[in-house]
Amino acid sequence: MNTLLRVEDIHKRYGSEEVLKGVSFEMLKGETKVVIGPSGTGKSTLLRCINRLTPADRGRVWLEDEEITHTRTNINKIRAQIGFVFQSFNLFAHLTALGNVRIAPMKVRGMKKIVATDLAMNVLERVGLADKADAYPAELSGGQQQRVSIARALAMSPKLILFDEPTSALDPELIGEVLEVMTALASEGMTMLVVTHEMGFARAVADEIIFMEHGVVVEHGSPTQMFTNPKHLRTGEFLNKISELYGETT
Ligand SMILES: Nc1ncnc2c1ncn2[C@@H]1O[C@H](COP(=O)(O)OP(=O)(O)OP(=O)(O)O)[C@@H](O)[C@H]1O
Ligand SMILES: [Mg+2]
Repeated sequence: MNTLLRVEDIHKRYGSEEVLKGVSFEMLKGETKVVIGPSGTGKSTLLRCINRLTPADRGRVWLEDEEITHTRTNINKIRAQIGFVFQSFNLFAHLTALGNVRIAPMKVRGMKKIVATDLAMNVLERVGLADKADAYPAELSGGQQQRVSIARALAMSPKLILFDEPTSALDPELIGEVLEVMTALASEGMTMLVVTHEMGFARAVADEIIFMEHGVVVEHGSPTQMFTNPKHLRTGEFLNKISELYGETT
């Protein structure tokens, strides 16, 4: 099989707190995995360890045959292949939507402005925002800003996109438009690792759900198995709780 990402025995400690206690999993090319788990369980830390925004204490991560965690790996080259979409959008306030999307292709890939502009317009079109190319982040809704940040990731033609609660900062009526874009990406074959509470999305789109608690993977499986026949009591309890709290918006 075509393994794209391999995460092996990741450990991370902050002071006396061991936040990740040996997390391992693999992703095949084109897969979507959803990570769920209570607050403070280490989900964001896991994503950050994957592209070395945070260094892991122990364990290894590979993107295809390159070891991301190896100290000699050129991490900027790897990060150019892994998109990251944050809860808080993280757009440059002084750049338009177009400016935000074309800056990395120009700065990181050395693309000429005219070529990067063409590419940026293309990906803005894919997320349904071609008509907002000249708008600044402050002039866009949260849902539109998040779609720009997805477009920004796409402009680098990433092998993998990590999403950390991409809809948690959005008003309920804006969540759907972002999930729609993510659903389309999944069906086009993008490989995505998504931390989210959106169980409608998880059910419909995820190939696998990973349930984490206290820094370990408690259980992982297909949405059907996790929702209808979880092996661990905690998995069922947690899924019931978030379905109650967040409902299913898709
Ligand atoms: N930079 C840091 N310095 C110290 N402690 C940290 C740091 N980042 C995270 N932590 C701690 O690590 C633990 C896991 O945090 P993390 O953000 O990974 O959890 P999470 O599962 O993403 O939670 P949430 O669902 O609330 O986003 C928490 O106890 C947090 O306080
Ligand atoms: Mg988090």
